[in-house]
Amino acid sequence: MSSRFEELDWQPTPLGDLTLRRRTEPAVGVEVYEVKLGDEFLMSSLFTVAEEDLATLGLAAAARQELDVLVGGLGLGYTAVTALRDPRVRSLTVIDALPAVLDWHRRRLLPVSAALMDDDRTELVVDDFFARMRREPPTGAPRYDAILVDIDHSPRHRLHPSHADLYTADGLRSLARHLKQDGVFALWSDDPPEPEFTAVLAEVWTHTAGHLVAFDNPLTGGVSTNSVYVAW
Ligand SMILES: C[S@@+](CC[C@H](N)C(=O)[O-])C[C@H]1O[C@@H](n2cnc3c(N)ncnc32)[C@H](O)[C@@H]1O
Repeated sequence: MSSRFEELDWQPTPLGDLTLRRRTEPAVGVEVYEVKLGDEFLMSSLFTVAEEDLATLGLAAAARQELDVLVGGLGLGYTAVTALRDPRVRSLTVIDALPAVLDWHRRRLLPVSAALMDDDRTELVVDDFFARMRREPPTGAPRYDAILVDIDHSPRHRLHPSHADLYTADGLRSLARHLKQDGVFALWSDDPPEPEFTAVLAEVWTHTAGHLVAFDNPLTGGVSTNSVYVAW
């Protein structure tokens, strides 16, 4: 490993070895935090525009003045902390399957950890998001105004085969049981919006949108894109 990398944490997990590292990116001269899971790059703090837009675009479609929000996939915390910037948010529950990721934030290892952890509205939960969405919410369990999800690379390119059912109409109907009646579902994707998946969303919700999110990529000198689906 190059001496420019500092490994902040390494832990074996059921999904592969999880590594958090920090380095200075020579192209821009800034400190970058990166997460690797197995051989795949899961996230870099160099690219957070679409992670933040996941919260902004999702909550823009939420109608109420007080919002209970669920985030699936904590990662570096940008989606969660962006949600907290919306003053209507009265509670923010973040589910992540990997205790190590929650632990990074509890140890204030990441740039947004303090903002996330020092906010009384935040609750971090270790759980399999997909398993929870498959289950009927227990009596008395909260229903959410918005569920914001960033776990897989895209509806087609998933971290684990067991995640596939979420991206079907039946899987999304199961998820919708965790929403209030006018609740919003939003999903981050590495791929451009796919008409096939928008059609699946339209089987469950009356309003759907697929936003292409463009941002400068200092590594290529060009523009890169992710996307955010919103359904309500
Ligand atoms: C790409 S990151 C999320 C990035 C986040 N949007 C941000 O702003 O930093 C994906 C996260 O999903 C988590 N994850 C993976 N499988 C999961 C599952 N089955 N349930 C919940 N979280 C999961 C990973 O541990 C990781 O923290």
